Amino acid sequence: MLIAGNWKMNTDVPEGRALAQVIADRLSTEPQSFEGVDFLVCPPFVHLPAVVDALADSSVAVGAQDVHAEDEGAYTSDVSAPMLTSVDCDYVILGHSERREYYDETDADVNAKVRQARAHDLVPIVCVGETLEQREAGDAESVVRRQVDGTLDGVSIERSEDLVLAYEPVWAIGTGESAAPEQAQEMHAVIRSDLTERYGADVADGVPLLYGGSMKPHNAHGLLSQPDIDGGLIGSASLAADSFFGIAEEAVEVLEETAA
Ligand code: 13P
Repeated sequence: MLIAGNWKMNTDVPEGRALAQVIADRLSTEPQSFEGVDFLVCPPFVHLPAVVDALADSSVAVGAQDVHAEDEGAYTSDVSAPMLTSVDCDYVILGHSERREYYDETDADVNAKVRQARAHDLVPIVCVGETLEQREAGDAESVVRRQVDGTLDGVSIERSEDLVLAYEPVWAIGTGESAAPEQAQEMHAVIRSDLTERYGADVADGVPLLYGGSMKPHNAHGLLSQPDIDGGLIGSASLAADSFFGIAEEAVEVLEETAA
């Protein structure tokens, strides 16, 4: 189970470092409490060295929220994959709906970034998800299939641990209303079958499929209990250690129930 925080454009660097420190401290004081749960935080670029440093003695992985498709060059304000790996960043969120909406990122743009991430051994967390309008028109499945196909076109993945997918219905992000567990499962099953066609069951079955969109401690159990939901990509609830760990506690319960 992968519990990932997307901090988006929140916290300043001292606050981000302090949040990372609280996470590291809690895991070091109760290491057995979260067996089977992998943690990841994705702070803003400028926080990365401080957060990596605060988490250095912990098992928490660190990711960025975007990357440029080129190694270097005249791209004012952009951040490259070599820059990310130089600060020991292991993951990168790509194709988030906020990037698609505010920066007009297309599946082709995301595809170029996914290729670049893989070329530099970064694990892409590829985000897909339909808008409310698309869902109401009955197009949710075809939209998500098209996004998966477009973003992964020509990307070869040989090990499950080299890719993460996140299903984030746009209508559930930041609204306080998550998708119903069955609704989310239905879309995760679509993504899993697409990945199976693309990479074979051996790889596809192990690729973590995260749900994102108003995941909170009170709704995490139902979502994480679904067979094709392997974790969460958590926005606002990842900004406080209590709610972040509250979701992780639900993940542990689900793991225990599944094992029983
Ligand atoms: P919220 O959890 O704040 O809805 O954000 C979800 C998200 O966009 C994670 O990438």
